[in-house]
Amino acid sequence: MKKLIAVLLAGAMCASLAACGSKAEEPAEAPAETEAPAEAETPVEDDAQEPAEDAEASGSEASGEFTTVTEGVLTMGTNATFPPYEFYDGDVIVGIDAEIAQLLAEKLGLTLEIQDMDFTAIVTSVQAGKIDIGLAGMTVTEERLENVNFTDSYATGVQVIIVKEGSEIASVDDLEGKLIGVQEGTTGHSYCSDDYGEENVVAYANGATAVQNLVSGSVDCVVIDQQPAISFVEANEGLKILDTEYVIEDYAAAISKDNEGLMNALNAALKELIADGSIQEILDKYIKAE
Ligand code: ARG
Repeated sequence: MKKLIAVLLAGAMCASLAACGSKAEEPAEAPAETEAPAEAETPVEDDAQEPAEDAEASGSEASGEFTTVTEGVLTMGTNATFPPYEFYDGDVIVGIDAEIAQLLAEKLGLTLEIQDMDFTAIVTSVQAGKIDIGLAGMTVTEERLENVNFTDSYATGVQVIIVKEGSEIASVDDLEGKLIGVQEGTTGHSYCSDDYGEENVVAYANGATAVQNLVSGSVDCVVIDQQPAISFVEANEGLKILDTEYVIEDYAAAISKDNEGLMNALNAALKELIADGSIQEILDKYIKAE
């Protein structure tokens, strides 16, 4: 459980939605110390763009100056293999993150464009300035904070363990020496590698493939975020999620460390959307109360 503490510290800026929404003026940006104040004050006049005048955000902090990769567009990178946060409905990417991003884009007077990519490509694409935000049920971690900033948190994630019904694995304490399936590059991947040894972890391109390999018996369990786990278990016979939670995490949007203007605008928009209940409404739409 040591990892839990590290992650909670990393995500300490906003432990819950309630905390996020309560104080509109509080500077809750955890990674604020990563920018030199002098640089933060420098106006980016050359490529700064005006948010559309008819933005819903008029009169809010969300209409502050910022730049985006493509003018007038909020380009979001995600990995749409992660229901209910992002998944395909036909050939459209839908889900919690897609809907939140849509509202954020509207607040900022931008059009949303979603790019699907490998999960491992999201942070590097943000860093390289190819996309504006990474929104992918992505956990705030110290390691990622070395490369990107994160907005305030908009949801809580929990790493859980999926096993076959009748498995001898009954809790997180039984994972020693077992073969664990994970999605490559996720926190589940790194926690399991650290705690149980890389040789006991098999990384797959996505969670669904990891779960297929559990069904076929190639791995003994799968460690993945709780809500996707619920979807995958619903879609496959003979699986169950263990009651014990492995790690609790904060989800947030990743943004380039060079785009403080966008970071501030998104945090302001996010605060409004949390305060007026819009975010909770989206979460409730996709996440069934237990
Ligand atoms: N929360 C985990 C992480 O940040 C998994 C996220 C996977 N997201 C996805 N869209 N596939 O590492």
